[in-house]
Amino acid sequence: MHLGLEKKVVLLTGGTKGIGRTMVRAFLEEGATVHFCSRTESDIKDANEKLAKDFPNAKAIGSTVDITDQSQLTSWVNSSAEQSGSIDVVVANVSAQAIPDTIEDWQKTFQTDLLALHVLVQTAIPHLEKSKGNIITISSVSGRDIDFTTPGPYGPGKAATIHYSASLARKLAPKGVRANTCSPGNIYVKHGTWGDLERDEPDLFKKQMELNPMGRMGKPEEIANAVLFLASEKASFVSGANLTVDGSLCNGVQF
Ligand SMILES: NC(=O)c1ccc[n+]([C@@H]2O[C@H](COP(=O)([O-])OP(=O)(O)OC[C@H]3O[C@@H](n4cnc5c(N)ncnc54)[C@H](OP(=O)(O)O)[C@@H]3O)[C@@H](O)[C@H]2O)c1
Repeated sequence: MHLGLEKKVVLLTGGTKGIGRTMVRAFLEEGATVHFCSRTESDIKDANEKLAKDFPNAKAIGSTVDITDQSQLTSWVNSSAEQSGSIDVVVANVSAQAIPDTIEDWQKTFQTDLLALHVLVQTAIPHLEKSKGNIITISSVSGRDIDFTTPGPYGPGKAATIHYSASLARKLAPKGVRANTCSPGNIYVKHGTWGDLERDEPDLFKKQMELNPMGRMGKPEEIANAVLFLASEKASFVSGANLTVDGSLCNGVQF
């Protein structure tokens, strides 16, 4: 399937590790220009160098931005649009990933998963209206299942992300802008959440692995492929959707 993402300008938060890193590479493979960010300057420098080598014909521009800092975030969005001439796709990938049920973690979740998402989207909307672009928010199966992360803020934050994205879809449809969510299941990355748990808490990791009906966790490429589809014109009538990519981990029917 030809996705037609060549020359599209993608803005993606959290692109140096895990699923975000793989999504950056997947968009570059399609010939898109990708602006991505993270908080760690050395990771951004390394990623910029590596991506320039690996994708000599594409354009990857990493910037050091903490999305919870509103002025950093808005100036990154606007300067990316200015530098590349437009924004066609916004992928809101960063989450506080805060599981403990503490006031501090609820605050972090609100600041990162909701408030920063709102600022990102509000700043990008004028650019997306011009390009008739689209927004993809990254939620989680924890937004719809009562799983090991409960009763902390992670699940409620992810549920709110799905709701916010669907409401954006309704509001922006008349302007030709789509909004969708992708909800990953357990996605294994060696130096990521599940790889760390496998090393640090092998019993808990084994228990979680056994919940996966396919007998394995997902690969970040499997999320990137779903996101590429949602971002492309092949999904031109898909808006307000929550695309769960979890190998049937969720035990429930999504109506
Ligand atoms: N992995 C899974 O199994 C799984 C399952 C379901 C949903 N998800 C969701 O998928 C998304 C990505 O998860 P992941 O596991 O790939 O995460 P990850 O490996 O921890 O990577 C997170 C990325 O975001 C950056 N980041 C974090 N906070 C930031 C901030 N405030 N400002 C800018 N950048 C920030 C990190 O870099 P710095 O730390 O250097 O800033 C890193 O590049 C999250 O929304 C997560 O909830 C993941």
